[in-house]
Amino acid sequence: PNTIHVPELALVALVGASSAGKSTFAARHFRPSEVLSSDTFRALVSDDENSLEATADAFESLFFVAGKRLARGRLTVVDATSVRPDDRRRLVDLARRHDVLPVAVVLDLPRNVLEERHAARPDRAFDPAVIGRQIAELRRTLRGLPKEGFRHVWVLRSPQEVEAARVERVP
Ligand code: CTP
Ligand code: MG
Repeated sequence: PNTIHVPELALVALVGASSAGKSTFAARHFRPSEVLSSDTFRALVSDDENSLEATADAFESLFFVAGKRLARGRLTVVDATSVRPDDRRRLVDLARRHDVLPVAVVLDLPRNVLEERHAARPDRAFDPAVIGRQIAELRRTLRGLPKEGFRHVWVLRSPQEVEAARVERVP
């Protein structure tokens, strides 16, 4: 899909393992204030964007802000891995509570691409095996996204597809 259609009022979940390019995609296609990144919220609550210990507080904060935005009718993009059904279910529930459409943009790129990117990142020190597990979890559950409640599911499977993608907002 070259053109990704996103309703003007939507909750857009970026879905993909670490180094899949979620934050890069978000910065390219959305306004900075539209994007709520789990890492940003980890940093806001703990001064460490990699702090796993801060996950619960980070997401509670992220969901609070996302809810305020959706209540105001502002398109909101959640930049978190969201490879697990439980994580996505919370996003679908939030969208439903605010009567907006949940949309998923999935970055399902080859594992070697992600591992190469990961190795080149100074900001992600963890074991690359984590990425393999995230990819496996995503692929195991990917077909379920429509049933989870996502109204549109866009899947990009290569760096070329990501590069070619445009986001069009539709009324
Ligand atoms: N990158 C790249 N080419 C792209 C997209 C990303 O080389 N087309 C690089 C980025 O410069 C970055 C790394 O790959 O160094 C990971 O991209 P990022 O957008 O940060 O990935 P995320 O999915 O946001 O990873 P995380 O979940 O760890 O935040
Ligand atoms: Mg990121």
